[in-house]
Amino acid sequence: MTILDGKALSNKVKEEIKKETDELKKEGIIPGLAVVLVGSDPASQTYVASKEKSCTAAGIFSEKITMNEDATEERLLDRIAKLNADDSIHGILVQLPLPEHIDTAKVLEAIDPKKDVDGFHVSNVGQLVTGEPTLVPCTPLGVMRILKEYGIDPMGMDACVVGVSNIVGKPMTNLLINARATVTVCHSKTKDLKAHTSRADLLIVGVGIPHMIKPDMVKEGAVVIDIGINRMTWGKYEGKLVGDIDFETVADKCSFITPVPGGVGPMTIAMLLKNTLSAAKMSVNK
Ligand code: GUN
Repeated sequence: MTILDGKALSNKVKEEIKKETDELKKEGIIPGLAVVLVGSDPASQTYVASKEKSCTAAGIFSEKITMNEDATEERLLDRIAKLNADDSIHGILVQLPLPEHIDTAKVLEAIDPKKDVDGFHVSNVGQLVTGEPTLVPCTPLGVMRILKEYGIDPMGMDACVVGVSNIVGKPMTNLLINARATVTVCHSKTKDLKAHTSRADLLIVGVGIPHMIKPDMVKEGAVVIDIGINRMTWGKYEGKLVGDIDFETVADKCSFITPVPGGVGPMTIAMLLKNTLSAAKMSVNK
């Protein structure tokens, strides 16, 4: 069994990005990312702070825009329009979830697709589905990068994706289809989850239920990717981050497995930096 070290790989990717941003700077281009945070959700604040820190280390200019919890949709849309028009900004990320009075879909569609480093705009989602090169959501992109690094080619594999979110499950499914895996997609209404997961050569889980996947749900020798990040508030793991996979009992059955923390999580930020760099290069046709 090999542990897929997302932390080490993310550092390698960040170093590659730093080299590229240094080259771009010689031509007078500094990649810029705007992160918009509405409200004061503590988890979102932590994510945003860590995105800013990583940008700086990779030579990317970052601008943080914070708005009060009660900010109107109109004000947010107005701010996005300004960022769309700002030549020093190549990537725009609006941290989700947004407060309930704001229409998330409307906000995401307001971002210039060429600056949509989250890959959430319908135009980019459409291009992912049709297999055209585009900005792709960071977490599933990070999973594909991990697989590539360890020489795991999804082509022809029986893959099972558990979770159908727009951020993770759906784009993950499309990336795997484009890579010619045979993909089964499961969700909370799936009748017999175990029947599907236990057939998978490649099992990818992102549902947010701690330790949901037990050894009897996993095929011997499977590649297992854990996208869950759950902060435990009770029991043996109190205060710790755990994944959707019961790592301790499942790991021995796998050929490869991602840990939590240190697996997919660090790759998400690395891919955000990569998308920002791509958007900056696209803006000058490189
Ligand atoms: N909230 C949780 N994950 C994400 C993400 O990947 N992008 C954004 N914008 N918000 C999130």
